[in-house]
Amino acid sequence: MAVGGNARCYTRSIMADRAVSDRVAALREQINLHNYRYHVLDSPLIGDAEFDALMRELIEAEAAHPELITPDSPTQRVGAEPSPEFAEVQHPTPMLSLANAFSRDDLEGWHRRAAALLETDAFDMVVEPKIDGLAISLTYEDGRLVRGATRGDGLRGEDVTPNVRTLNSVPLVLRADASPPRRIEVRGEVYFPRDAFRRLNAQRAESGEPLFANPRNAAAGALRQLDPRITASRALDMWVYQLGSTDGATPGTHWETMGWLRELGFRVNPEMAQAPSLDFVEGYHGRWLAERADKNYQTDGIVIKMDRLDYQRHVGAVGREPRWAIAYKFPAEQARTRLLDIGINVGRTGSMNPYAILEPVQVSGVTVRQATLHNADYVASKDIRIGDMVWVERAGEVIPQIVGPIPESRDGAERAFQMPERCPACDSPVVRLEGDAMHRCVNSACPAQRVEHLKHFVSGGGMDIDGFGEKLVVNLVENGLVRESSDIYRLTKEQLVALERMGEKSADNLLSAIEESKTRPLASVVRALGVPHVGAETAELLAGRFGSLTRLMEAGPGDLEAVSGIGPIVAAAIREHFALEANVRIVRELADLGVAIESDAAPAVEGPQPLAGKRFVVTGRLERYTRTGIETAIKNLGGQVSSSVSKKTDYVLAGEDAGSKLADAERLGVEVIDEAAFARLSGAAPA
Ligand code: IVH
Repeated sequence: MAVGGNARCYTRSIMADRAVSDRVAALREQINLHNYRYHVLDSPLIGDAEFDALMRELIEAEAAHPELITPDSPTQRVGAEPSPEFAEVQHPTPMLSLANAFSRDDLEGWHRRAAALLETDAFDMVVEPKIDGLAISLTYEDGRLVRGATRGDGLRGEDVTPNVRTLNSVPLVLRADASPPRRIEVRGEVYFPRDAFRRLNAQRAESGEPLFANPRNAAAGALRQLDPRITASRALDMWVYQLGSTDGATPGTHWETMGWLRELGFRVNPEMAQAPSLDFVEGYHGRWLAERADKNYQTDGIVIKMDRLDYQRHVGAVGREPRWAIAYKFPAEQARTRLLDIGINVGRTGSMNPYAILEPVQVSGVTVRQATLHNADYVASKDIRIGDMVWVERAGEVIPQIVGPIPESRDGAERAFQMPERCPACDSPVVRLEGDAMHRCVNSACPAQRVEHLKHFVSGGGMDIDGFGEKLVVNLVENGLVRESSDIYRLTKEQLVALERMGEKSADNLLSAIEESKTRPLASVVRALGVPHVGAETAELLAGRFGSLTRLMEAGPGDLEAVSGIGPIVAAAIREHFALEANVRIVRELADLGVAIESDAAPAVEGPQPLAGKRFVVTGRLERYTRTGIETAIKNLGGQVSSSVSKKTDYVLAGEDAGSKLADAERLGVEVIDEAAFARLSGAAPA
């Protein structure tokens, strides 16, 4: 293997077995320590690259000495093969749920009842955020993770151990210096971090897969994957909030227990606080309500717990709800209202985007009048009818959504939604092509598309013209100065200063920004054109393969589909776009006005194909390529790129900070190469 930068050599002849196993143990200890510093204490001692070097050394040692691999080695988070189904597990003590309080009154009621049972109202409490995810139980024996289980019905859950192992914040071994008991079971909430959730949904939107409604559903979906590699790719996280049971001695309070669990290696939320009074609890609730949108996890309230564990035991539970704890919920983010009508927005690519016109309703303090309905399939799958009473939801940062209709409230006057047959803006026919989730207006000169199209053209995803915002686009279109994108390059200073609120200086700045945009890379120009289905990645592939817009416009379906990563639907969309004379004319005009439509790099169309038939997986940060760049290079040289390592993978190209894919490669015996080796393979001189 050719991963550079490692001085040690793990062959039996050089290193005695004893020395190797000592080194492996030391590496594991260090890696576990740094994982703990990073994920639990949030105060790393070393940088990512240094951590990665330790991990790589361990992988290498284990590859040379497979007999040293143990299931709890940090390299083994993703080791298990997909399973056919989940086994059922019985929880040692039931996993309870919580009673809810929605007001200070409810809270005081709970406190009074608890005080009566305890015969004192002087009891301390602990308050903590209520995480909106899934309850999970983790069991450790002799300091090692032996089981992860879902809550299920509270008595029996599902064994999801291989999936839970993939979470970096779940320790595989407990910290020995905190003297773990022989057996311990802890509980907590697994959740989908918001940033990762947004990335996942953006990817799914781009590839036409259905979106997850919220991070909670996405987390549940990820944890219940039969293939742990999928769970691993979704970057879930966990906060531990309770000791389930143990055969060892325990502290006397919940607060101390949480401190102890943190020492054992569990990720315990530092936002937890000791609450001496209900006034404190109320203040904490208000603070969280205001700040929760800024957190990288979703919360739906706070949890108040009696601190003393003997008090907890004394008051016990009624049914499934403990009397020693209560959830103080945030105001509902859902509300009922009537769906008055369904309107249509015409998007940039002519897509007909249905949206709900609602009887205005307050949802968590904001008046909601509209909600997105995505497309005709979405409306049909939820059986949403015009006139229905519906549940509306505002979940954090997401735009209002319709959760679903309330069929019991129907009186028969509701009507099913029909996608209009003609575009509401230009009256041209609306069509839906095979494989497309959207209905579209066929007229590319449709006025409703124009503003959206121009906004896209000047945006960061396109020609990236500084200072060219939506207002200016609308202004220019309304004043008849810009009809199509090429008109932007014909704007003069006189025209601009004649616009309202445009001074000489702004006009000059804008003109130089327009000028500067003429030399954007070819991929940006391709993307700016707004061809349906051609996003950043496809534009990059096309630019790399054809090297010029002229060649791209002339490409036949076969030429297009020969580009790995481009299928018949995208190829057809490209062909259709350039079949319209108006679209070809715009490209010619752009070129005549000075926009670069050829790339500097030579096209790879007729180039040699030294990587033909080879499958690559790329991981980590490369020095000479961006991610899209390397993928394009591999494809241009005839190779294929996949996102996960399998036995069919020929090479894993690993850069800085490579992660679990490197471990996968080791496990499956796939050759790992670095950038220099890649350059040799592809026949290029190393840089
Ligand atoms: S304590 C005895 N603490 O909320 C019940 N639960 O609605 C033990 N949850 O099933 C739960 N954050 O999944 C507790 N800080 C927290 C929590 C929390 C979220 C979940 C948990 C529970 C559900 C009850």
